[in-house]
Amino acid sequence: MAERQIVKYGDPVLREVSEPVENINSEIKDLVSDLIDTLKEASGLGLAAVQIGVLLRLFIVDMSAIDPTAALKVYINPEILETSAEQIELEEGCLSFPGIYQKVTRPVRVKVRATDIDGNVFEEELDQMPARAVLHEYDHLEGKLFIDHLTPLAKTMLKGQLKKLAQAS
Ligand code: NI
Repeated sequence: MAERQIVKYGDPVLREVSEPVENINSEIKDLVSDLIDTLKEASGLGLAAVQIGVLLRLFIVDMSAIDPTAALKVYINPEILETSAEQIELEEGCLSFPGIYQKVTRPVRVKVRATDIDGNVFEEELDQMPARAVLHEYDHLEGKLFIDHLTPLAKTMLKGQLKKLAQAS
């Protein structure tokens, strides 16, 4: 398939709520294939369909840069079942915000249910970076962005950079 252009901050599509995937047909498989190509080219950890402008509840996570044994995973119509009360602050980035990295506080662990590319429903419990990646990508499906988690001060400090990014897109 093909690499697609990643939508950058400033494009209003990133604020839209994505729609459920009705069935996993060849269009969805092509979309996933494009997401994979696009993520690999961008060397990112995760990518949601909305980030290539498609408002469907679907994202991929590839932790292989951190854990070489990790397989790329596809999450279709994901649901967050549980998050831990314990939280952790870690530096985070997003392919829709090139060059911007910020400390974000999120739950350490998450329990997620989703459908894979073969139509099988699965549940898993994740912690640390994979948990963070799933929570970050899930936010995209709700039109939420990682900067929404920042403190007012951090957001104020970032204002100029965000404005520049929005104007470029
Ligand atoms: Ni992102």
